[in-house]
Amino acid sequence: MADPTHAEFDDLLREHRTFAPPPDFTARAVVRDDSIYAEAERDPDAFWARFAGELEWSRRWDTVLDWQPPHAKWFVGGKINASVNCLDRHARGPRRNKAALIWEGEPGDRRTLTYFDLFRQVSAFANVLKSLGVRKGDRVAIYLPLIPELAISMLACARIGAVHSVVFGGFSAESLRDRINDSKCKLLVTADGGFRRGQIVALKQVADEALADTPSIENVVVVQRGHAEMPVHIEEGRDHWYHRLMQDASYKCDPEPMDAEDMLYILYTSGTTGKPKGIVHTTGGYLVGTYATTKLVFDLHEEDVYWCTADIGWVTGHSYVVYGPLANGATVVMYEGAPDWPKKDRFWSIIETHGVTVFYTAPTAIRAFMRWGVEWTQKRDLSSLRLLGSVGEPINPEAWVWYYRFIGGERCPVVDTWWQTETGMIMITPLPGVTTLKPGSATRPFPGIAAEIRTERGDKVEVGGGLLALTRPWPSMLRGIYGDPERYVRQYWSKWGSGVYVTGDGAKRDEDGCFWLLGRVDDVINVAGHRIGTMEVESALVDHPGVAEAAVVGRSHEIKGQAIAAFVTVKEGTHATKDLADVLKEHVVKKIGAIARPDDILFTADLPKTRSGKIMRRLLRDIAEGKALGDTTTLADPAVVAKLKANYEEEYGG
Ligand code: WTA
Repeated sequence: MADPTHAEFDDLLREHRTFAPPPDFTARAVVRDDSIYAEAERDPDAFWARFAGELEWSRRWDTVLDWQPPHAKWFVGGKINASVNCLDRHARGPRRNKAALIWEGEPGDRRTLTYFDLFRQVSAFANVLKSLGVRKGDRVAIYLPLIPELAISMLACARIGAVHSVVFGGFSAESLRDRINDSKCKLLVTADGGFRRGQIVALKQVADEALADTPSIENVVVVQRGHAEMPVHIEEGRDHWYHRLMQDASYKCDPEPMDAEDMLYILYTSGTTGKPKGIVHTTGGYLVGTYATTKLVFDLHEEDVYWCTADIGWVTGHSYVVYGPLANGATVVMYEGAPDWPKKDRFWSIIETHGVTVFYTAPTAIRAFMRWGVEWTQKRDLSSLRLLGSVGEPINPEAWVWYYRFIGGERCPVVDTWWQTETGMIMITPLPGVTTLKPGSATRPFPGIAAEIRTERGDKVEVGGGLLALTRPWPSMLRGIYGDPERYVRQYWSKWGSGVYVTGDGAKRDEDGCFWLLGRVDDVINVAGHRIGTMEVESALVDHPGVAEAAVVGRSHEIKGQAIAAFVTVKEGTHATKDLADVLKEHVVKKIGAIARPDDILFTADLPKTRSGKIMRRLLRDIAEGKALGDTTTLADPAVVAKLKANYEEEYGG
């Protein structure tokens, strides 16, 4: 098939086509009819308990749910270990020699670990952690590239009851330091480096910078990623090579029986303040939620080869690269590097060589593939695929249709899955064997999940737009913000009463009850599927000695969904030059990481403020979007915005 013409796309979109599940897909799907929704509605606790019963518990729970809004306890009294459910359970039985991880490094190196291999390595590393003084409840920071040792480290923590805090390898030294210090991690697992677009990212060097100011860290374990030429500083007594420690480690490690509500991990995510928050997930409910959604949404069958392209540094990797698929005994593909390295068909070559059947990626990637063109997809045989997924940001219908047609060969259902770090599991999604798809809609809440649209005041909207709320607890919901119980209540459960969770997303619901996600309504922006707080970027900018004030907004971007636009006023004596703009961009990269690099920086003498001194972000967004300006009557000085708009248009073409 050639690249579609605009007319063809227009046709597809104008039709408002819906896509019923292919009958042959439904015939052998995990869920074949929609009675599951009614079943879950009748008795949500029994519904979740059904999935909990498919996992292995060392003590069965007494009560499914104890809900004291907004505090939930799931599977109360139950004892369970996540690593046992992801590994031992499979390594004991017929899945013993099944591939658990099929990994490709960016330079082309490959490793396959069977369930038995993974079980042994995790047990051995669990013993290593114990030998370095890590005990149940201790926090362990993990700062690694996307290599098998990342999953091994997480599962080893889970095995001994240590709490992992994975920090995405693209974050800066300062971000790593702040995350380590916020949860007082005792040990850090890192690597000499990792590969990205043919370059080596010197992780240990970045970690060393962070480690200068992390008093809680007692030991550092360094994985050798396999490039001996990398000079790595090893601090005697503190730093240890992973491969050396593993040489002598025993492969026998009894799993710690964890209370269902014991902490499994902390994962930091951006919010509406300058400081990322540590989202806390516990063991039993999280495992049940990720197990059930992976099984039903990705329709997992024994022979599937499942590939979720997310980095494990984000929640998608936690739930849908590690815990969900491994709890299901699936074969998981992992790829370390960039999609366009060495050429723009890398993903398609991975699908072809490993026979990937289920593929889960982000709209940002899909839009980049569209731009690169179908000559790259056509070079490869993608006929093994049978199901596609999308996550992280709203998917525009054009991208959906392109994905369906050119990757899925018009054969594979596309599941657009809405969820968050806080929800831990997929919340709004089609079930591929039963749901009629609409390009751009995440369709319906997963069985047992209650979602609705509300007005600002809290009235329920049956058909129409508003704010997305979740009105019933779910097993893998966050249990708190690490070290800040008060913020948990205020941030998520205070707008409409203590039993209703505020997502921070805008959405609309159509006549068929389908949900259409519209993006964040708070000061969080979504750049290429990554959550970034505007306040974080502002704090990074004003940290520079030349900056007096900064206001950051998101503007639409063709590929990344949103881009970062910063409006900056400089201090007396500082010259607002192009060079300074570049310096400031680098400053943000150094403070946060490359994902937060502002796309536009506009210097201005004033920022538009209300008479009470509040920055009018809405106007700044309009300016950055090149839109006509809305109401400016509340401004202290309306001339400021007119000038700002003219300058922006001159600089960035409106
Ligand atoms: C957005 C990523 C539309 C949303 C799993 C949410 C989506 C935020 C979708 C959470 C989707 C995620 N359609 N928007 N299918 N999936 N989002 O915590 O704004 O990194 O609030 O979790 O991403 O981002 P987070």
